[in-house]
Amino acid sequence: MTTRDELDAFCAAQRALWGSAGDYAAIAPHLEPVADALVERLAPSPGAEVLDVATGTGNAALALARAGVRVTALDLTPALLEQGRCRAAADGVDIDWVEGDAEVLPFAAATFDAVVSVFGVMFAPRHAVACAELVRVCRPGGRIVVAAWTPEGYAGRMASIASRHLPARPRWALAPTSWGDEEHVRRLFAPHPVELGFERRRLDYCFPSVEGFQAFMEHHSAVYVLILHGAREQGREDEARQAMLALAHEHDRGDERGAAIGADYLLITAALQPTERQP
Ligand SMILES: C[S@@+](CC[C@H](N)C(=O)[O-])C[C@H]1O[C@@H](n2cnc3c(N)ncnc32)[C@H](O)[C@@H]1O
Repeated sequence: MTTRDELDAFCAAQRALWGSAGDYAAIAPHLEPVADALVERLAPSPGAEVLDVATGTGNAALALARAGVRVTALDLTPALLEQGRCRAAADGVDIDWVEGDAEVLPFAAATFDAVVSVFGVMFAPRHAVACAELVRVCRPGGRIVVAAWTPEGYAGRMASIASRHLPARPRWALAPTSWGDEEHVRRLFAPHPVELGFERRRLDYCFPSVEGFQAFMEHHSAVYVLILHGAREQGREDEARQAMLALAHEHDRGDERGAAIGADYLLITAALQPTERQP
């Protein structure tokens, strides 16, 4: 049984990771194509009520608002929500920003027509708890769409480099990239009345060169910053840097115009069964 103190400490570490270890506002624009893919998949009706869980600086929330949807955007990290608010003001769209935890969504059951999350809910440590929350706040007949990095793709392989240089996660905190494994997701949704669909996709990080990509990530990515910090303390900084660079080269599908580091993700759709009509 996980205690409240353990969960609070985990959440505090997540807030520090996303809010201050790197510069997430610089990373987010590179992930916008995934938010667009998710909105295309959801094809929401104008005026629908949609929740974006773990919105970060609001990529999916903004894309949805531009599509005429009424959006609530929730995240654990206040600093990122603040940046999302500024983006929404600049775009002239109205979004309801809420600080909260994906494992304890502060909404009544069946509040939303759809619930989405781009590389977000995967970071909540107890996957079954978070999954049950997504289902609870979505109305019968509604849809849940989640994008998650795959364990065998670029991001999953980066996580295994991280495991060599960072303290082990608590046993109850499942690996985020398990949300990118179809079988795991089928087990998570098994207790719920949903029909699941899966599509494997790839995001390309386009940079003039792999070395340019590495330099950018070392500066802005919280994961890179933490790995290098941990490796430095172990006296293994060069080893970590070389492993990350080799991984980026391995996933580069670019050409003479530049590098395109491909990161695979799973796009999950869960359609909730409508409630049975009363005779
Ligand atoms: C990789 S970022 C993705 C942000 C955004 N969805 C995007 O596409 O740019 C991961 C986000 O998950 C948030 N997060 C992590 N654990 C969370 C939790 N338990 N509840 C809510 N948000 C969480 C972080 O604060 C961060 O904003």
